[in-house]
Amino acid sequence: EKKYLQLITTLLEKGYFPGLEGVPVAKSSISNIDGDKGLLTFRGYPVQELAKHGSYEEICFLLLKGDLPLLEERIELTEDLLDHKELDDSIAETIVSMDDDLHPMHMLSSSILQLQSADAGCFNVENYQHNLNRAVQLIAKFPTILGTYRKQDPNFAEGETFDSLARYILYCFNEELAKQEKWINIFEQLLILHVDHTMNNSTFSVRAVGSSKASIYASIATAVNSLSGPLHGGANERVIKMLEEIGDPENVEAYLEEKINNKEKIMGIGHRVYQTYDPRALYLKENIIPRIFNEQSDVDPELDNLYQIAKKLEKTALDKFADKDIYPNVDFWSGLVMRAMDIEPKYFTTIFALGRVIGWTSHWVENMEVKNKIYRPKQLYDGFNTRHIIREEK
Ligand code: ACO
Repeated sequence: EKKYLQLITTLLEKGYFPGLEGVPVAKSSISNIDGDKGLLTFRGYPVQELAKHGSYEEICFLLLKGDLPLLEERIELTEDLLDHKELDDSIAETIVSMDDDLHPMHMLSSSILQLQSADAGCFNVENYQHNLNRAVQLIAKFPTILGTYRKQDPNFAEGETFDSLARYILYCFNEELAKQEKWINIFEQLLILHVDHTMNNSTFSVRAVGSSKASIYASIATAVNSLSGPLHGGANERVIKMLEEIGDPENVEAYLEEKINNKEKIMGIGHRVYQTYDPRALYLKENIIPRIFNEQSDVDPELDNLYQIAKKLEKTALDKFADKDIYPNVDFWSGLVMRAMDIEPKYFTTIFALGRVIGWTSHWVENMEVKNKIYRPKQLYDGFNTRHIIREEK
């Protein structure tokens, strides 16, 4: 009720809802957030439990179908995903021919649209089973698109066999680490933490585009573009750049002061729905970061320096923003994890997308099942009154 009162107040004061803040736009049973308690659940299960005990395939099954799989169901889905990971030759060639200055997120979104050309039936969006199959096939192809582009080789995994999606996805980014169970486990948890997050900007985009009955490819390509922005998933890449720019823990205080004075945003800090620590960020900080920085004796000094800067930045930001309920979000710690895995920063947001594609496709499928209402909000017109072209008689 308090939230609805806030909405009414906003409407009375402003006449509209900037950024749709607090406006419910859809019913969904996929994920849920309690922003006061810092609770995130997927189909009812706390994200921390899923990260700790689940696999990428199990979470994929859970989100798409509503419940955790039986053993045979998990094996079947794993086989299905691994069987569908290949790209058509022409699409793989197109990916390799793309300019390597293109940001991987933009390469990813345009490659997803390429996939549509190889799927003539994709405009029929009314059949639940077809939609589900397409979702699985698209999830399976995401890592291959990225691996093909990153390695500039359509046959980059030729002759290799994979027993899990997490191992395959990691192989696309770091072949050596994909042989080590510890790193596969860390990477799989990172992917699971990113799988879904209610009506965030990219998921909203999926549902808005999908509500016009656009194909899964059109809808998911849009979501990738939305995620690429620095205020959304693109923040993880910027966090590492920011830590590098700060350069030394000693510089943190002055850096923050300057940003605050210039009214600039600190990357990886703040969230629309959490009034407390983002549970995904907390999980990384408490469960993953110590496995990288405290348990390993051979941490690269440059990486360790970034970690020291991050710790100081977190502490200083928490102090400075104590009265505003602003805390680190998932992007604050995920960049360091990926940096520790020797993944190039320009690929960080694609790793986020590799987790989130499970949520996006689940929302697209769910959206096709509900009584559809095309997304068509209102604007508050703020332009000229009607006027007319006045031409001098020749
Ligand atoms: N640095 C400094 N101040 C901040 C920050 C930040 N990162 N985030 C919020 N604030 C301040 C704002 O200046 C504002 O202060 P004011 O009320 O005095 O003007 C107040 O907190 C509210 O901020 P808004 O930007 O209005 O909050 P909104 O809900 O619209 O934005 C967002 C949320 C976009 C995440 C914002 O916190 C931000 O830009 N953070 C940095 C980028 C980032 O880390 N994005 C990743 C988000 S998580 C994700 O997508 C996975």
